[in-house]
Amino acid sequence: MGKDFSTLEDSNRSSNPSIHDVLRASRREALRIGAIAGLGALLYPLSGCASLASRQRLGFTAVPPDSADRLVVPPGYVAQVLAAWGDPVGIPGRMPAFRNDASNSAEDQAVQLGMHHDGVAFFPFDGSSTHGLIALNHEYTDDGLLHPDGFAPMTPAKVRKSQNAHGLSVYEVQLRGQQWAVVRPSRFARRFTLDTRFAVGGPAAGHPLMRTAADPAGRTVLGTLNNCASSRTPWGTYLSGEENFAFYFGAGKTLDAHQQRWGLREKSFYAWENSDERFDVQKTPNEPNRFGWMVEVDPMDPDSTPVKRTALGRAAHEGAWVALTRDQRAVVYSGEDARFEYIYKFVSEGRMQPGGAKANRTLLDHGTLYVARFDADGRGVWLPLVHGQGPLTAANGFADQGEVLIKARQASDLLGGTKMDRPEWLAIDESSRWVYCTLTNNTQRGEGGKPGVDAANPRAHNSMGQIIRWREDGDHDGTGFEWNHLLLAGDPANERPEARGNVRGDFFGCPDGLGFAPNGLLWIQTDAHATQMYKGEFARIGNNQMLACDTTTGEVRRFLTGPVNCEITGIAFTPDGKSLFISVQHPGETPSDRSDPKDPQRFSSWPDHAPDGRPRSATVVIRKRDGGVIGS
Ligand code: FEO
Ligand code: CA
Ligand code: CA
Repeated sequence: MGKDFSTLEDSNRSSNPSIHDVLRASRREALRIGAIAGLGALLYPLSGCASLASRQRLGFTAVPPDSADRLVVPPGYVAQVLAAWGDPVGIPGRMPAFRNDASNSAEDQAVQLGMHHDGVAFFPFDGSSTHGLIALNHEYTDDGLLHPDGFAPMTPAKVRKSQNAHGLSVYEVQLRGQQWAVVRPSRFARRFTLDTRFAVGGPAAGHPLMRTAADPAGRTVLGTLNNCASSRTPWGTYLSGEENFAFYFGAGKTLDAHQQRWGLREKSFYAWENSDERFDVQKTPNEPNRFGWMVEVDPMDPDSTPVKRTALGRAAHEGAWVALTRDQRAVVYSGEDARFEYIYKFVSEGRMQPGGAKANRTLLDHGTLYVARFDADGRGVWLPLVHGQGPLTAANGFADQGEVLIKARQASDLLGGTKMDRPEWLAIDESSRWVYCTLTNNTQRGEGGKPGVDAANPRAHNSMGQIIRWREDGDHDGTGFEWNHLLLAGDPANERPEARGNVRGDFFGCPDGLGFAPNGLLWIQTDAHATQMYKGEFARIGNNQMLACDTTTGEVRRFLTGPVNCEITGIAFTPDGKSLFISVQHPGETPSDRSDPKDPQRFSSWPDHAPDGRPRSATVVIRKRDGGVIGS
């Protein structure tokens, strides 16, 4: 999600010390450690990685930074806009076309793709690289563009349309000749909105803190919110993270400690509470506890009920990514994209069973959740969030395991997890077992009254972000790990030392999306906000972009630049690595809160460039003209 840096959530007032505080390392020393760690990581020998020799190195011509309202890919590649906000998802008999003036009704929007495409995954039919399903997150809405007259006044009908533009889409796609097409109608086509029933699984299901008047059992939640990153599990389901849910609730003037810790505010950003009392916290105090979960969807079964997996903990989840131990237990890595929040992993009790989604429907409901502590010596520890262990007791406000999970932030504060620079996407290198995580930025690091720099987060007023990585001792379920930085992002010519990066190759700022391709290249996507771009430390960086990194050499090469004020996000390859689906989110994002409905094309008209239109987020699919593997 693009973020207005003046209003971004910052709720961690806990006193658990940063590494910096513990070691009393000087800022200069921490910077030195960070810089050395970054360079050291690039040279680190990836021993025991038999497949390295067969990996395809960066084989494309880099594209330069760009600031035009267009999407640019290297020579020899073609990018196709596949499905944009408002296009019909393909539900039989209900396929209203998008209207350029945004006059589609809430009911139309419920069967059209939502706004603000984000995480995306491809689900092949029988391993096909030419036919399958796309599952897609719609993170949030710009109500200035969503309605012909914009946000004000926010009527009940506009609230319903906004709610229907959130959630997820599943749509069917097929490669026909050299072009991908959306298959419409399709029996798989589906929308998940704020009206969709989600089951609750895991230890917090039915917990008193999850119960409401409308759901006294605490086991069924209507809808999912602010779905950001996503991934495909090894058993064939879609995992989607509920990120900045706090912005949707109006909590009134008096907030208790729990509400404060989770970033609730007097009024929501979206004004839903005016006509939907679920979002009025004074009327429905437990409703916020029912968001902030990872949700699991089986796209291949159009009748399946999606599930909120509470065993993975509650957080402003960017997303979650699954590795398997050698004995087939699921290890789920996740992070919480908010300033000074945490990185988590979950280790399942059971093993993945053959038989896909149906055979693994409770795999993520039982296991152990851990929070990461990154120590200054390049080692780290996973600290268990288990009720009754350490400080996680009734005396400290945790009645049971359900409460530990609902209050995972408070539990992590007590355990002493490391307060990170906004963890976004993670990516798991199956061959080397390194796990990578983008830390997109944290402009409050080291500012007055805020945590100072530490070895893992080594730059004050961190405008540029970094990519950290770790490798577990033993298997993925190890409770200790080694770590270093793959890179520190930033233009190396920047005047301020903390804004200079050490990228070997093409520089960038604010890494966000991250994912490995089938050929082993690591893909990086960026999300600098419209308030930052094109000036100061970002003057030479240009539009948000996508780059490829060969992690065996550390070389980074710019592959794609997006249109003006967009974010590039979402990474999904076909199994053959020859088609790449991405999301272009919020082209034309305004530096202020919402777009001006009287001037919807002020910053961008991508992708339609229609005189009467408006910018639209879209799924883009990229292929090589010669049919080769992307990046080779
Ligand atoms: Fe939704 Fe953290 O980006
Ligand atoms: Ca971001
Ligand atoms: Ca993101």
